[in-house]
Amino acid sequence: MYDYDLLVVGSANADLVIAVERRPGPGETVLGSGLAVHPGGKGANQAVAAARLGGRTALLARLGHDPYGRLLLDSLRTSGVDTVGVLVGGAPTGVALITVDPSGDNSIVVAPGANALLTPDDVRAAASLFHASRVVSAQLEIPLETVVEVVRSLPPDTRFVLNPSPPRPLPPEVLAVCDPLIVNEHEAKVVLGDSCVSAEPSDWARLLLAKGPRSVVVTLGAEGALVASGGGTVRVPPVEVRAVDTTGAGDAFTAALAWQLGTGASLGEAAAYAARVGAAAVTRQGAQESFPTEAEVAAL
Ligand code: RIB
Repeated sequence: MYDYDLLVVGSANADLVIAVERRPGPGETVLGSGLAVHPGGKGANQAVAAARLGGRTALLARLGHDPYGRLLLDSLRTSGVDTVGVLVGGAPTGVALITVDPSGDNSIVVAPGANALLTPDDVRAAASLFHASRVVSAQLEIPLETVVEVVRSLPPDTRFVLNPSPPRPLPPEVLAVCDPLIVNEHEAKVVLGDSCVSAEPSDWARLLLAKGPRSVVVTLGAEGALVASGGGTVRVPPVEVRAVDTTGAGDAFTAALAWQLGTGASLGEAAAYAARVGAAAVTRQGAQESFPTEAEVAAL
């Protein structure tokens, strides 16, 4: 009945990555490794991750008419993502400046470029993609009003998954349809705002649920994840691996979870599978290049 298991609406960036021993403080200069350029962006990353796992995946995004845009289109198409919804032009392709430290942790600054020009009109013009998709996912590297239009464009039986990254307070209209809302600690605190009064992740999950989502997943890095819904809270154990580069691992987690939900998995099952996908992604460098196939997840 559906042409796509997952429609991702979101950003696409060229990732300019430098490995550093430590990050500079204010006014300080440090030397890093040579510069690597990778295809990235939270939206494109999700789309590539789902397609590499075998999901029939489409992306609605905007790129610049430039070499970075071509890098992204190549990566999307090679991975099997349907790029019929990828718009080109209006501004340069988004760029992310990324430092990765020896523990694999990253810091990211994004110049949105063409991502900022993905408009509510673009969403309305892509109505046929929404009707052809079992699950729709989004993030927040595109304008919030575009995400609001995504929510308004959802067909009644289409499930919506949101990772509010980079985080900002969310309108009730968006929160109400998230199933799940997927947040890490930092994102949970921003979405909760003043109502975040506890250091306990299970409290964040409970308080977030009270804000309206149908379900919530709190990712806890090396501690695993928490899955919360009206039926209660379940802990998803971590998958132990040696981290090389965590860039894009959260995007791989979200994509795997969204795709699994579309195949009929329960939220707990989908989160446990997604934890394996996210773990596999941190064992290799880069974002999209690090995402595993289904066979690689099974072998983990
Ligand atoms: O989540 C990782 C991604 O964040 C990177 O690929 C970078 O482009 C930024 O969007």
